[in-house]
Amino acid sequence: MLSVISADTGLSETHDLPERAIASALPTRFRPADLLRITDQGAVDVLNGVYDHLLPGNGVWPKDSRWAVRLSSDDDVDVWLISWVPDQSTELHDHAGSIGALTVLSGALSEFRWAGEDLRHRTLEAGDQASFPIGWVHDVMRAPSTEALDEESLEPTLSVHAYSPPLTAMSYYEVTPHKTLRRTRTVLTDLPEGDPK
Ligand SMILES: [Fe+2]
Repeated sequence: MLSVISADTGLSETHDLPERAIASALPTRFRPADLLRITDQGAVDVLNGVYDHLLPGNGVWPKDSRWAVRLSSDDDVDVWLISWVPDQSTELHDHAGSIGALTVLSGALSEFRWAGEDLRHRTLEAGDQASFPIGWVHDVMRAPSTEALDEESLEPTLSVHAYSPPLTAMSYYEVTPHKTLRRTRTVLTDLPEGDPK
């Protein structure tokens, strides 16, 4: 409902606000639920071998650095597959003007999300999903495995991510001693979850 002052009467009038007007004010016509469905389908397709031609040629996932490949892209949404390695976090970041979502295929991810006064932690296991509205600030990393100590036997930690509109920039943050969030830098990037260090 929208309240406006009538030019004729000077009185307040209420009107139904067209849904289209609300949608056009957002940076994308996609909703978090759409991205969750896209990443879910992407995960199924990866598991079914649809993207085998895009995976590391020798079948061995990189162990030293986070690895990513773009599965699909158009004007509305970018879809990526990410392989996570131990001890590499993304740092606290946002996704600028993009909303995002992910589905974990295998392994697990740790997410630390800024909740206004502190960081809230959650673990996302294989099959779990998460979506990120505008303004979501988080740090993501591979979750420690409690199943195997032998690095060689660890299964890869894989997740499919979608960003809409396609990612163009990210800002990075630090938590101050006063429990506030301070932006430290902004970078132009279309790489998912930022540039691996
Ligand atoms: Fe992120």
